[in-house]
Amino acid sequence: MTGLTTCRRRLLQMAALSLGAAHCGPSGVQPASLGDVPAGTVASLSIGSLRSVGGEPLAIGRDSGGVYAMTLTCTHAGCEVNVIGQGIVCPCHGSRFDANGNVVSGPAPSPLDHFAVSADGSGNLTIHTGTVVDSGFRLKV
Ligand code: FES
Repeated sequence: MTGLTTCRRRLLQMAALSLGAAHCGPSGVQPASLGDVPAGTVASLSIGSLRSVGGEPLAIGRDSGGVYAMTLTCTHAGCEVNVIGQGIVCPCHGSRFDANGNVVSGPAPSPLDHFAVSADGSGNLTIHTGTVVDSGFRLKV
């Protein structure tokens, strides 16, 4: 992803914040809802993988428990974080998260929010950003 795209996303996030579409709670920045977002297929997501979802500040991963999805909006000040290998790094102030979105090192005050994810009969995945779920949620596949 280019720096220009990241900057544009940041501006859009700030605009959303000013419109009340997202808010800062006691635990940090909450991501704006993006509605239902297509996220590839189960077959393309091997166990142990974690990747960003093209064009959106979202990640989808799969572990031995199943498929999960989470925001890539940092809980510190709302920058878009990057998936790097099996970890996640914020380019703004250096926060690091593990593959499940837990804070490894700050200043991020809280984990990345997880979203519900579903699969249709053909294995097409959809992330439902309007539904925040527990970080232990997994879609059994
Ligand atoms: S916005 Fe991510 S560490 Fe500050």
